[in-house]
Amino acid sequence: MQEKEENDRIVFKPIYKVIILIFTGFMVFGAITILLFGPKQMVVEINDEDSELIENGIHVRTGLIEAEGLQTVITNCTTCHSSKLIIQNRMGEEQWNATIRWMQKSQGLWPLGENQKVIVDYLTKNYPPVEKGRRPALTDIKWYNLEK
Ligand code: HEC
Repeated sequence: MQEKEENDRIVFKPIYKVIILIFTGFMVFGAITILLFGPKQMVVEINDEDSELIENGIHVRTGLIEAEGLQTVITNCTTCHSSKLIIQNRMGEEQWNATIRWMQKSQGLWPLGENQKVIVDYLTKNYPPVEKGRRPALTDIKWYNLEK
């Protein structure tokens, strides 16, 4: 009886050693892999510079036109919905104000204070109505200053 127990121990010991060795090997391998490759990938994914990138006068992340008031518009107008809603809707000053009032009344848009003028100026300047024939002639030519 006693002899058999001892024999078992002798047989199992090396197997445990091998298992522990393999296990430790994987742990070390995993740790090295994470150290070498893990953090590098994170840095590539979280890149703040790209989100502020402006190409050909367009703010790349939102697609909005780069102009005075852009940052205010991004901060206040792209939290709830995509900037596409703005880009697709071309309106005059009064309509932009009305849209803002509607969102404040029924969609939970916060009071914009002094920023409202900055935002509406940006919108009427960069996203005016596209209709050509039916609108009264422009009086404020500054809106269409195309010279560079
Ligand atoms: C608190 C959330 C919120 C904020 C902030 C917000 N909106 Fe909206 N907006 C909405 C909702 C909700 C809708 C309706 C979306 C839909 O129909 O899918 C909407 C719709 C619109 C539309 C489409 C209106 C139409 O007639 O279809 C425009 C244009 C718009 N928003 C512009 C803006 C502008 C400009 C700002 C910045 C001043 C802004 N939004 C900020 C919630 C918001």
